Amino acid sequence: MLKLTNVFAGYGGGDVLKGVDLEVEKGSLTCIVGPNGAGKSTVLRVISGLLKPRGGTVMFDGQPIVGMTAPHILQLGIAQIPQDHSLFPNMTVRENMELGGLLLRDKRRIEQRLAQIEERFPIVKERAKEQARSLSGGQQRQVEIARALMLKPSLVLVDEPSMSLDPKTLVQVFETIRQMHRAGTTVLLVEQNVRAGLAIATYGVVMESGRVRMQGPARQVREDPEMGHLFFGGTLSGA
Ligand SMILES: Nc1ncnc2c1ncn2[C@@H]1O[C@H](COP(=O)(O)OP(=O)(O)O)[C@@H](O)[C@H]1O
Ligand SMILES: [Mg+2]
Repeated sequence: MLKLTNVFAGYGGGDVLKGVDLEVEKGSLTCIVGPNGAGKSTVLRVISGLLKPRGGTVMFDGQPIVGMTAPHILQLGIAQIPQDHSLFPNMTVRENMELGGLLLRDKRRIEQRLAQIEERFPIVKERAKEQARSLSGGQQRQVEIARALMLKPSLVLVDEPSMSLDPKTLVQVFETIRQMHRAGTTVLLVEQNVRAGLAIATYGVVMESGRVRMQGPARQVREDPEMGHLFFGGTLSGA
């Protein structure tokens, strides 16, 4: 479904991504893990068109997407939920949802879509008239996920959903991601919480220093002895 080949990207200085090869299979829940600064968020930004890579190719459903604008890529079916909270805090939950459907253009289609999503995400209806900032961190995450589904994307990129959530809320947010996956959406998840991320994933990818160091079925990656070195201070290469 999605294939990155030899991708190089950075922010003006040197390369942050140094030849990333990565494939996301249709129907998978692929989880990228790796230490802080490994380039995980950068990979998602390249895919969603927020950052143009210096080299390499990104194919989505057999079509090259490098150079396309972010709204164009969204329209093709790739939605991104960024690492930082991304709801407009002073707008209501409903207004945020409507913005998520803006590219549908037609007000009636937006209403229809919203009604379908409200069935799956009760919070969207219950808190519709409240300002987004009045919701807890976990509730905001739920609304962000719901909003990303407004355009019926075939691939959703989720960046560190567990960040600053307490363990109980984390379980709820992960359950939502799992449901989205079960409902047929392919998911590319980035997680610092390696255990939780790989536990819900079907496929695991380990990044370090701008490269993919290991990948395979999630369970295999989880049980790989090298993982211990990587996540207890060492590096995969040096361990
Ligand atoms: N907007 C930016 N401008 C400059 N450097 C950035 C920017 N975003 C990230 N970086 C740098 O790129 C590297 C990888 O960042 P990132 O992809 O966010 O890593 P991760 O998500 O794995 O923690 C880091 O060294 C970071 O400092
Ligand atoms: Mg990140």
